[in-house]
Amino acid sequence: MDPRAVGAVSERLTVPAFDLARAARRIEGPLADRWARLLERTAFVGGEEVQEFEEAFASFLEVRACVGVANGTDALVLALEALGVGPGDEVIVPSFTFIATAATVAWLGAVPVFADVDPATLNLDVTDAARRVTPKTVGVVGVHLYGCPFDVRASLELCAEHDLWLVEDSAQAHGARFESRRVGGFGRLATWSFYPSKNLGCFGDGGAVTTDDPELAARVRLLANHGATGRYRHERVGLNSRLDALQAAVLNCRLPLLDEDNATRRRIADRYRSALAGVGGIDALAEPVDVESVVHQFTVRSERRDALQASLAERGVGSAVHYPTPLHLQPAFAGRGEPPALPAAEAAAREVLCLPVFPELSDAEIDVVISALVHFAGTGE
Ligand SMILES: Cc1ncc(COP(=O)(O)O)c(C=O)c1O
Repeated sequence: MDPRAVGAVSERLTVPAFDLARAARRIEGPLADRWARLLERTAFVGGEEVQEFEEAFASFLEVRACVGVANGTDALVLALEALGVGPGDEVIVPSFTFIATAATVAWLGAVPVFADVDPATLNLDVTDAARRVTPKTVGVVGVHLYGCPFDVRASLELCAEHDLWLVEDSAQAHGARFESRRVGGFGRLATWSFYPSKNLGCFGDGGAVTTDDPELAARVRLLANHGATGRYRHERVGLNSRLDALQAAVLNCRLPLLDEDNATRRRIADRYRSALAGVGGIDALAEPVDVESVVHQFTVRSERRDALQASLAERGVGSAVHYPTPLHLQPAFAGRGEPPALPAAEAAAREVLCLPVFPELSDAEIDVVISALVHFAGTGE
């Protein structure tokens, strides 16, 4: 790449961290058709759109069942509740993730036990998790952070050894693969968010629970519909947490594009990675062998993260910090005794920065991001 050309481009272009309008334009036609059909049928809750999506997503993941729910947080609550999590239970979760992974455990009256993360991937450190198993531990929730699968094999071995279940929080990893198989079918249950910025996002809130166990799927579906087994007959106390038909229509338009979109994200990641190979002080996270990340985020680490973010912003490049505080240090989890020392999660919170990566990003925009990174590394500002 000729640096002068990049300089010329950067004067014209700013690069957003994310741009949903571009994704929306790509499905304008098919979405208008589906919405018109929905308006005609007035099937706004449940109905064919939701069923079509549940079947298509289960088949995409090669799992037996998918239950659409209202969002990824409810998906976790319902999955944990279906497994019987309640007061007195301990559930091991990584400390470096979105709060929903742990808050849902606490919401059900159980204790989230925070484990540290692997410094190379920022995913659950299974060796650290193993040290935190007690007689009260009932399960582990792993997170495929930034679209990169956690070590499912080691997690399953840990669970088998102590008779625990594994739940995959797959909110950031639609389509990712571990040992060639898509994530979402390894744990007893997997939970999904379709928040608009996700690789498979709708235009509001949406979520799902997937599993190979039809009985567990039926339990989730029951709990998500006020435990109703008939009209005004309620077998269990539950929630109203259903996937909206309008959102299912968006997902039905976007699911067929997902594999190609994920491949585009991987190509963008390759370009960033090659550019960073010759640059000191900014390191991309590792992608382990045997996994295929779907690059929900392209995350770098720098000891001068805040200066890097400011410098990128000055050159018109958006970026984001996911996450500035590890969960064991969040006020929401204070008052439960001295928080553990989790050095890898704490360092990650100080150093991570997520660069623009979405399928509609243009080559010229990628050039601008790369030139801004090179500029920062070269000038130290
Ligand atoms: C890892 C993880 N888990 C759970 C959630 C919760 O999903 P939702 O925002 O749809 O409730 C998110 C959403 O950002 C997430 O990133």
